[in-house]
Amino acid sequence: MKKLISVALVLAMSLSLAACGSSGNPEGTATKGVLVMATNAEFPPYEYHDGDSIVGIDAEIAEAIAKKMGCELRIEDIAFDSIIPEVSSGKADIGLAGMTVTEDRKQSVDFSESYATSSQVVIVPENSGISSLSDLGADSIVGVQTGTTGDIYCSDDDSIGTVERYNKGMEAVQALTQGKIDAVVIDSEPAKVFVSENPGLMVLKENYTNEEYAAAIRKGNTVLLDNVNKALEELKADGTLDKIVAKYIAAE
Ligand code: ARG
Repeated sequence: MKKLISVALVLAMSLSLAACGSSGNPEGTATKGVLVMATNAEFPPYEYHDGDSIVGIDAEIAEAIAKKMGCELRIEDIAFDSIIPEVSSGKADIGLAGMTVTEDRKQSVDFSESYATSSQVVIVPENSGISSLSDLGADSIVGVQTGTTGDIYCSDDDSIGTVERYNKGMEAVQALTQGKIDAVVIDSEPAKVFVSENPGLMVLKENYTNEEYAAAIRKGNTVLLDNVNKALEELKADGTLDKIVAKYIAAE
């Protein structure tokens, strides 16, 4: 019996070592025992600053994934359009930033299973008379965050006059409140947060696009991709993901 117990102990120990352990670095991260997440923490409720810490849905999902992998999470807050380069160069292990899966991005990184659906929406001043982007017209100015899908799709949209790019979504919203631009195109949940913080603005009913969020991982890093997908699957199945989302997004 004693022997059996010690065999079981040794087995359990080597299994837990395998999670974030020894020589082969089986968790698939660049540094043993550490999961480096690149994000742009200007995107509530997914990632934003709260005092000295970065909080939000993505931050908590990453924390839960890291825990399942037996890793410590390290978050790097960088410009949104630097996230894919950091991931594909291996400086960061995953990009988690309310990042939309697109065919174009799939050329540079692999994506995990999706963990959320989203859409691009249009913010306009209340009583602007605008009910759709096509009302804006040839000399309109639409604000977006640089490098986001809002930027990419608006830049391709002939019904929009000029696309004005900002480092942060919030800066675009401020320009809108100051009357410098006519509308902002941004993801639906951050739009709700920004509108609630800036009186006099509203979100148009009609979505501009529908999208899915996923984690970006260096192309070909199947070990990490499998680990992240497995963790996500477990977090979906046991209700953790729903719980995290419910903490940050009020049910409608
Ligand atoms: N979903 C959009 C995109 O992928 C915007 C994401 C912006 N995320 C952020 N953390 N600032 O392009």
